[in-house]
Amino acid sequence: MIVLGIETSCDETSIAILNNDDVIANLISSQFVHKEYGGVIPELSSRAHLQQILPLLKTALKKANLDISQIDLIAATAGPGLIGALLVGLTFGKSLAISISKPFVPVNHIEGHIFSGFLSEGNPEFPFLCAVVSGGHTLLLLVKSEFEILKLGSTIDDAIGEAFDKVSKLLGLGYPGGPLIQKYAGIGDNFAYNFPIGTSKNKYDFSFSGLKTSVLRVVQKISNDGEFTKSDICNIAASFQKAAVSAITKRIHYAMSEHNVKSISLVGGVAANELLRNDFFSIGKKYNKRIVIPKIEYCGDNAAMIAYRGLQYHLAKKDFSLTANAFPSLSSEIFTLL
Ligand code: KG4
Ligand code: ZN
Repeated sequence: MIVLGIETSCDETSIAILNNDDVIANLISSQFVHKEYGGVIPELSSRAHLQQILPLLKTALKKANLDISQIDLIAATAGPGLIGALLVGLTFGKSLAISISKPFVPVNHIEGHIFSGFLSEGNPEFPFLCAVVSGGHTLLLLVKSEFEILKLGSTIDDAIGEAFDKVSKLLGLGYPGGPLIQKYAGIGDNFAYNFPIGTSKNKYDFSFSGLKTSVLRVVQKISNDGEFTKSDICNIAASFQKAAVSAITKRIHYAMSEHNVKSISLVGGVAANELLRNDFFSIGKKYNKRIVIPKIEYCGDNAAMIAYRGLQYHLAKKDFSLTANAFPSLSSEIFTLL
């Protein structure tokens, strides 16, 4: 089955073509228009998706050497995400499906991330533990089967990627912050500052706002005392990164003591972080479990994961809204549009 995937939930426009679970094309156009604002501006995002979506589709079809009539199924992200941005991809996909008389499947963006581990070699085995770490979400899930996902915990305030982005802004490094923090942390001292690992009533929940505030206090103190040097930036970045990564790995250790899983998967944009990846591989060795982390191109937002999840729904003849309640953050407005 040839599946066309469409992803426009935030600041990446992506079109993918899959031949069953083989990715033939996965084109991602990142929007740099937000850089000067230090964060994503929703209106600019929607406009950029509108500009990019058709040229990307044409390029993807060319790359796959296919005509639009050869597409068997269309899947697009329905949420969660920026409403205007989502509407571009969703409306485009639905209209295209109607025009070529092919089925259309709306896909939950987080579910796309959860199953992105199946796009690379060595799939996770059920049941698996899945940490979703992105700019908008931080979740720890027990994935029992394709359609049975149990939430163990989630962030009670900021998402981990958001924390990386905000700390990067505080340090004057720019947007998106994750890769920049990682770069400066590489030459900093992880132990220069003892930043807190947020805790919560539910031991599986995450909290990153206290960590962010602690970084702010240190930045303010150094600025008040005198000059803010490059070595201060590197040390703060390294100590922050260590605390943020530990917040995730700590919950994985808890989960390993309480749940019997076959694999552990790390997905989402922050899964590109080298320290986090390495710590997950150490966890895999400790518990003798397979660690599945997608290739970098499938960690951040991409349409290949949306096409893959859409295909799973189509083959199982499942209704999208059945699992939607598992993720209350999925905007309710979008359901009235489906
Ligand atoms: O999954 P994603 O592309 O978008 C959302 O669904 O949110 O994740 C984007 C997030 C951003 O916050 C970005 O700073 C973060 O992923 N990120 C990283 C790294 N690369 C991207 N965070 C830490 N280390 C990285 N190497
Ligand atoms: Zn995402």
